[in-house]
Amino acid sequence: MAHTPVLLKEAIEYLNIGKNSNIIDATLDGGGHTRAILEKYPEVKILGIEFDPTLFKSLQLNDDRLIKINDSYVNLKNIVKDYKFKPDGILFDLGLSSWHYEESGRGFSFKRNEILDMRFNPEIQPESAVDIVNKYSEDELRELISYLGEEQFAGNIAKNIVRARREKPIIMTEDLVNVISRSVPEWYKQQKINFATKTFQALRVKVNDELGNVRKGVQAAIEVLKPGGRLAVISFQGLEDKTVKEVFKENVKAGAIKLAVKGTIRPSWEEQRTNPRSRSAKMKVAQKV
Ligand SMILES: C[S@@+](CC[C@H](N)C(=O)[O-])C[C@H]1O[C@@H](n2cnc3c(N)ncnc32)[C@H](O)[C@@H]1O
Repeated sequence: MAHTPVLLKEAIEYLNIGKNSNIIDATLDGGGHTRAILEKYPEVKILGIEFDPTLFKSLQLNDDRLIKINDSYVNLKNIVKDYKFKPDGILFDLGLSSWHYEESGRGFSFKRNEILDMRFNPEIQPESAVDIVNKYSEDELRELISYLGEEQFAGNIAKNIVRARREKPIIMTEDLVNVISRSVPEWYKQQKINFATKTFQALRVKVNDELGNVRKGVQAAIEVLKPGGRLAVISFQGLEDKTVKEVFKENVKAGAIKLAVKGTIRPSWEEQRTNPRSRSAKMKVAQKV
């Protein structure tokens, strides 16, 4: 199933795209946002970045106005230098693609029994989720599940991971789901949000250093934007949003940007109804001074 772009109309509107604008799509994926921008603005140029090599290779979007790059947005400064690309607008649509959950086979979803990999780029990232659950100490696991997953039963889960891996290594998603299931009370399993969600999120964020990347990527974007250019960042979880807010705040203080909108833009009720994945989305927009 194709990934449905989130806050599409709003992102395009707030990027303030002009006739000949140069736009960077820092998280290209299937090109949902990029395709819509190319359709609406015939003279625009887009530089699109996607870190996942499998997603990148399968991208079905060929257009003379689009430069596609298989790299991390963390390297934005070098990328714009190499391509002599001066952006008027930059979009980050953070997190992962529906494809990662449904088709990657890399253990992002607790609903599928797959190897716990969780790397966006297994070709260059050295540490997978299997490494983390089998090598980190109980304290390290508790800390990361508690902080990155905001999981209230992190202590029990970490203790039981260490206990279980003494018997046999935790390799598959199902192994981990079973450990989590033994670590949380029955009422927790009756909640709307699945009892494994937060632990899986914590591992994914850790494996991909998502918060560190957001900080570096957003900071680099602010530095490479043309004066007057806009930066729109869509985030899907609290710590991501907090990181964006912090980087914006530091740069407002330094006089590098001003906020183009106060606070956060949220999807309409209609979008939330038709695309449940959009429900946690928050967009923040800044303008380079
Ligand atoms: C939510 S999806 C983007 C969806 C896209 N805007 C669309 O509508 O089709 C986020 C994408 O960012 C990619 N990604 C994650 N970390 C990245 C990084 N450091 N650099 C570039 N892309 C990254 C993921 O592989 C994923 O495909």
